[in-house]
Amino acid sequence: MATILSDSPVKTAHKKNRGKTSVHSDQLAILGGPKAVPDGLVKKWPPIDDIDREMVMASLNGANHAFGPNCQAFEKEFASWNGNRFAITTNSGTAALHMGLAACGLSAGDQVIVTSYSWSSSATCILHHNCIPVFVDIDFDTINIDVDKIEAAITPATKAIVVVHLHGLAVNMEKVMAIARKHNLKVIEDACQSHGAEFKGKKVGTWGDCGAFSFNQNKCLCSGEGGMFVTDNEDILQKARQIWSFGETRTPSESRDYHAYALGWMYRNNDLTAAFGRAQLGKLTRYLEIERANAQVLLRRIRGLKGLIPPTEPPNHLHTYYNFTCRIDMKEAGWTGDPSRFRHAVMKALQSEGAQTGIWQSFMLPHMTVFQAKNAYGRGCPWSCPNAAKVDYNPLQFPAAQRHVDTHFGMTMPLRAPNGPDVAEKVGDAFQKVFGNIRQLDPNLILGKE
Ligand SMILES: Cc1ncc(COP(=O)(O)O)c(C=O)c1O
Repeated sequence: MATILSDSPVKTAHKKNRGKTSVHSDQLAILGGPKAVPDGLVKKWPPIDDIDREMVMASLNGANHAFGPNCQAFEKEFASWNGNRFAITTNSGTAALHMGLAACGLSAGDQVIVTSYSWSSSATCILHHNCIPVFVDIDFDTINIDVDKIEAAITPATKAIVVVHLHGLAVNMEKVMAIARKHNLKVIEDACQSHGAEFKGKKVGTWGDCGAFSFNQNKCLCSGEGGMFVTDNEDILQKARQIWSFGETRTPSESRDYHAYALGWMYRNNDLTAAFGRAQLGKLTRYLEIERANAQVLLRRIRGLKGLIPPTEPPNHLHTYYNFTCRIDMKEAGWTGDPSRFRHAVMKALQSEGAQTGIWQSFMLPHMTVFQAKNAYGRGCPWSCPNAAKVDYNPLQFPAAQRHVDTHFGMTMPLRAPNGPDVAEKVGDAFQKVFGNIRQLDPNLILGKE
């Protein structure tokens, strides 16, 4: 049974407040108190200025709206910003991931290791190439793949690892690369959420054989939709280019013979999106500095709050705080019932305070139907490929991912530019109010009776 303190100060305040107009500033907004973060304070992402307008309009007024000059310039500029030799601009991060799988020479039925908690396409990109995902539990502290559990998941069928740098925090790539070298595995970095994140002073996307970035609406580099494939390897570059554009061997900027030499897709980007991406790339370093500074303010304000587990930044890592993800320590919060229900109540209380929190993924990857059903391409493919070895997707194998799924909530917008430390302070007030009353929060009062 859940612990519900019936005559808690919060509930008493709620009762007292019924029928009255006066409110106390420390009273929770969900119970009628004033919001900690006033309406209209948080500005939207991404900030758009004259540079964005001029560059997009110049592309619109130009002669090539498909794979045009902005696409080529964006590739060069992004490669240079990130420290890669080559980059290919794509129409999504998922496209760039799939290109990575194909360019690394994987075949149907090969096993690919991936974290058990991420965006769906960190793992469905493996299915796109008719390969079989093998999930590894997360390290609860970092929310990333538990690198110490990777080796136990390797079988003779394992050919690659998709390493996801989640929420702005890099994986320990020294350990991953040592395992990959030992077992002759390719490494594809899913850096879709982690532009600018570093491990040992080296950016994500520069460690593995290749990497993928996303530029969708919510990302630290937003071009509406879009992505970037990066590599330092010329052979992988050529293979990725072929997949990217109809299986052709020449790019749209070269003279083409329109011949499909291999299986290809249409993953190219367009000039207007690339123009927007270039404009935002010019401001990315500054935006990341602002986000980090805002996160430091919030971290200072919430340090030591009972029941709250803030994001961690281990030594040797540079966190971008793309998604400022916290977890609730249910024991400290005094809650013994369903953790996700309590988390939901806490999140509602924070949202009522004006802190824009949300649940990012309420399912771990192996729990998702696409994997449980084992039928991506019909007739059981890729799991029924003649050479395929058996894999087990029982969610009970991933206790750290399950704990995370049940207890987390995250936040992006309030810490992003153009918002400054004043907004982070207000969000800190919201956390102080809610977690200051954590032991008295009553999910039945907030969410209604179960
Ligand atoms: C970790 C991760 N991988 C892959 C993707 C896919 O990126 P896109 O939406 O650009 O295809 C996303 C973003 O949505 C993501 O967060």
